[in-house]
Amino acid sequence: MYKILANTFFLGKDIIYLTECHSTNEEAQDRLRLRTVAEGSIIITDNQTKGKGQRGNEWFSEKGKNLTFSLVLQPKFLTPSEQFLLNIVISLSLLDFLSEYIQDIRIKWPNDIVHITDGKLGGILIENSLSQSAIESSIIGIGLNINQRHFTVPNACSLAQLAGQDFDIWELLRSLIKHIEKRYIQIKKDDREKLRKEYLLNMFKFDEWSDFDDKEFFKGKIKGITEEGKLIIEKENGQFQHYAFKEVKFLFGN
Ligand code: BTN
Repeated sequence: MYKILANTFFLGKDIIYLTECHSTNEEAQDRLRLRTVAEGSIIITDNQTKGKGQRGNEWFSEKGKNLTFSLVLQPKFLTPSEQFLLNIVISLSLLDFLSEYIQDIRIKWPNDIVHITDGKLGGILIENSLSQSAIESSIIGIGLNINQRHFTVPNACSLAQLAGQDFDIWELLRSLIKHIEKRYIQIKKDDREKLRKEYLLNMFKFDEWSDFDDKEFFKGKIKGITEEGKLIIEKENGQFQHYAFKEVKFLFGN
């Protein structure tokens, strides 16, 4: 089934709806390889049977209850070293969208969406294809818990649980895509520093003593992110350390 979103300029003009698939990111990858998908297309499913999460984890989502989709972008105006800007704008657009319904939502670096006390609401898996000088294509995979009320993993929650009502998935998709488009356009025309600052302002546990693990347990404070999106943590001895995604684990939240 194909649908169209009429309220955007270019995102979601082509929506590929699948009742079931392994992973919408994989579907997007296959179609990109075959060149059968246009920039701005969305692949969405009711039932993802082998959803991919970050760090090689599996993403579980109850059939028909949540938003599980991938968006195809071709941000050739970004260089490979600017990749993290995509994480920033997508995370911020999820926050923009969610704050229409609920409060106390933060970004857990690099791009988990969490409620400050109730846990993880969703996550983003961005898979870029790079040339030497540009991001040729980007698959933005988004999994957001909407109407699910029971979870097999700890520290997970849904919009319905937090807002106390159920939602129409397609209505939400329309609104979310509009927010994403607005933020995506912002990378081109706005001050990138402004986007980075907004990201920091919305970061979970920013500037608070928290527990981490970089092969050893330590206490630290998140102080910021580097240009390329590494996490900057101040340790108890006053040292500032930079971490890539796989180099540090958070020992709080999910
Ligand atoms: C994470 O927090 O680990 C990222 C989760 C990303 C899940 C989404 S669901 C739609 C898209 N397709 C996938 O296989 N994964 C992403």
